[in-house]
Amino acid sequence: MAVAGPQSGESETHSGPGCVMSRRTFLLTSAAATSAFTVMVRMPGAAAAEEVPAAIALYPRKLIGRLSELKVDVPLDFNYPDEKQYSEAMLIRLGREAGGGIGPEKDVVAFSYICTHQGGPLQNTYKAEHKALGPCPLHLTTYDLTRHGIVIAGNAYQSLPQVLLELEDDDIYAVGIFGLIFGRYDNLQA
Ligand code: FES
Repeated sequence: MAVAGPQSGESETHSGPGCVMSRRTFLLTSAAATSAFTVMVRMPGAAAAEEVPAAIALYPRKLIGRLSELKVDVPLDFNYPDEKQYSEAMLIRLGREAGGGIGPEKDVVAFSYICTHQGGPLQNTYKAEHKALGPCPLHLTTYDLTRHGIVIAGNAYQSLPQVLLELEDDDIYAVGIFGLIFGRYDNLQA
């Protein structure tokens, strides 16, 4: 996962040191899946390449919860980006500012429940005292939910995919995913 520090004029999303992007960088880094762009393609027999629209699948915008109903350290389960295999995810209010967090305290985040190592189930492994998910029941990987799901310990070497969130009044929407869900070659293709 590419991690960037704050750009000039940007506000940080986390006051602590380490692996946390500004919200602007976070959204820009993950914007490719929701942007329209063109590619140069040379068809067989054609003299030159042509610019054609790229075929891009868009993430659904899904209502997954309400800010006023979230309790600190109590996960709310949902499925995203679809209801197919490996879509299990969790929404949580950490009670502490986090990378990519939304809400007045920037402490509401969401992550895949599927371990990036070999797909172990991370349901019911949330550790409130560390704001972490894990250890995974298969090989003990644990992820830091305040820092975009980076690996704290264990066999995995990829961060836990983070679900991009938007807040509209009291409604929380999932609008994309940063990182590749285990078991999928494309997040939108189960
Ligand atoms: S599957 Fe989770 S650590 Fe191996």
